[in-house]
Amino acid sequence: STVRRGAAASSSHLSRRPFSSGPAPDRKVAILGAAGGIGQPLALLMKLNPLVSSLALYDIAGTPGVAADVSHINTRAQVVGYAGEEQLGKALEGSDVVIIPAGVPRKPGMTRDDLFNINAGIVKSLCTAISKYCPNALVNMISNPVNSTVPIASEVFRKAGTYDEKKLFGVTTLDVVRAKTFYAGKAKVPVADVNVPVVGGHAGITILPLFSQATPATNALSDEDIKGLTKRTQDGGTEVVEAKAGKGSATLSMAYAGALFADACLKGLNGDPDVVECSFVQSSITELPFFASKVRLGKNGVEEVLGLGSLSEYEKESLEILKPELKSSIEKGIKFAKEN
Ligand code: NAI
Repeated sequence: STVRRGAAASSSHLSRRPFSSGPAPDRKVAILGAAGGIGQPLALLMKLNPLVSSLALYDIAGTPGVAADVSHINTRAQVVGYAGEEQLGKALEGSDVVIIPAGVPRKPGMTRDDLFNINAGIVKSLCTAISKYCPNALVNMISNPVNSTVPIASEVFRKAGTYDEKKLFGVTTLDVVRAKTFYAGKAKVPVADVNVPVVGGHAGITILPLFSQATPATNALSDEDIKGLTKRTQDGGTEVVEAKAGKGSATLSMAYAGALFADACLKGLNGDPDVVECSFVQSSITELPFFASKVRLGKNGVEEVLGLGSLSEYEKESLEILKPELKSSIEKGIKFAKEN
């Protein structure tokens, strides 16, 4: 059989082998805020991802325990925990993807913008370290308010001379996950088949699910149903914050969504074709400098920012209504990064 393998390896059909059959290349993923509510289940899910060869878990404290625990799982990724700022460089070095769920979550009655004062500074310092230790990594920003933290990151990288707009992503995948779940429930279609693009931003009315483009299409939903689904998607985070009654915001569903998005980034880096996810990125599809829409991922990160497609009248109106709020959140982030 050795001979036959050798013969096959030298034959030309090897170059036409399906992209998935080769060994997955080494990929390092770092999670910053890995001891938190999102960070821990996200660490678990990334440890289960066969595309990850090295998993760095960083937090200000608590990561040695999380890392020891997760490292016993018999999957490919080698796990190391890093605690405290003096270990941040080591955690980041060589990373292909950096996922950032560091910062405080909402309590009942809070908007995502209420988190700005604390999280803006955290994101700024972490991004400063990224520009120093792994300037080429894809950055998946989970810390809220995403509508501002992504612009902050862009400005920090720009100042450091490392900004590459293809490598910075606001993670809006949870909005897509929610839109799919709520649509499937209402339209009574199998949830695994459902696709719904979500555009705009990641806070309240800036979250705009495009149910007119949902598949499988249905005519079972009235305009009122669509409005209800839109509102539930926009308020999905608040639904969880209220149910947790002071104990934080979405962590498990967010970890799932974060793992899904990081997996898409890794697939793109590895050259898989047709990897498309919604994300909040630098964009020129509207007049706003950052906008969430479908994005094609590739070997350098963003391969192509896809357009909005055709919108219903309700979606067109909602798009115009969300722009001023999204614009001011973006400007707030840029202003913070410029002044601090
Ligand atoms: P958490 O409080 O449970 O965990 C946050 C972790 O960040 C803690 O372990 C903390 O020690 C760590 N941390 C704080 N400062 C740090 C620093 N300078 N460096 C590294 N780590 C640091 O909060 P949770 O629930 O995990 O949420 C984290 C963030 O994710 C919040 O900002 C929340 O609003 C956001 N979020 C975003 C979502 C999205 O869809 N993009 C959905 C849900 C939450």
